[in-house]
Amino acid sequence: MTRIGVLGTGMVGTTLASRFVELGHEVVMGSRTADNEAANAWAAGQGAGAGAGTFADAARHGEVVVNATAGAASLAALAAAGTDNLAGKVLIDVANPIAGYGPPVVLDPAGDDSLAERIQREFPGTRVVKALNTMTAAVMVRPESLPGQHDAFLAGDDPSAKASVQSLLVEMGWPAGCVRDVGGITAARGLEMYLVLWLSLATSLGRYDFNIRVVG
Ligand SMILES: NC(=O)c1ccc[n+]([C@@H]2O[C@H](COP(=O)([O-])OP(=O)(O)OC[C@H]3O[C@@H](n4cnc5c(N)ncnc54)[C@H](OP(=O)(O)O)[C@@H]3O)[C@@H](O)[C@H]2O)c1
Repeated sequence: MTRIGVLGTGMVGTTLASRFVELGHEVVMGSRTADNEAANAWAAGQGAGAGAGTFADAARHGEVVVNATAGAASLAALAAAGTDNLAGKVLIDVANPIAGYGPPVVLDPAGDDSLAERIQREFPGTRVVKALNTMTAAVMVRPESLPGQHDAFLAGDDPSAKASVQSLLVEMGWPAGCVRDVGGITAARGLEMYLVLWLSLATSLGRYDFNIRVVG
């Protein structure tokens, strides 16, 4: 059992938090206010192993913390979570830095920086791992919902943090060989900029339930 703080009450936060509870972890979902309706409704629907509170409550609770907040607000949400509450923790950064939905979508930062790097710079005592931002929430937690093998990616500077995230992904059903370490935290640039292609694919397919498979 791992204590997990999930920052974010949207589709990604609730989908990941529910799956973590299902797998036997103790989860606190955090939001800007302790009386957030979505977070409290989520916790009430889960029973034991689930709670709700502020971003700070969730970060304090978690040995692992998930950033599932809107990318443009992630630094503010993490500041509210608190540097001390995040110190030494593994932070799984699932967010995409969407500055405008367009179309075409606008990312900020992009190119020579990434949200994950900004978070790592702002919270140097936190072990940031970019992961799972390259697929829709339902696929993150149930990779078997798509046919065949397909891939998830990890980027971060701390090998043991990446190993912890890999273990959580394997628990969720990802074959270990499909969890690909693409390098240090700067590799998050590619994972975040992939959103541009992901959105084009979603438009052309007319659905979100797809993923990438690396071949060759
Ligand atoms: N949707 C997907 O399938 C998908 C897939 C991959 C990655 N992502 C990324 O995952 C993240 C979460 O996506 P989502 O659709 O679940 O939720 P979202 O609507 O993008 O974000 C919701 C969360 O952001 C927080 N938030 C919004 N504005 C804020 C502000 N000004 N200050 C502090 N916090 C603020 C909200 O706080 P409150 O709870 O207090 O309202 C809420 O918890 C995003 O970065 C998204 O790009 C999404």
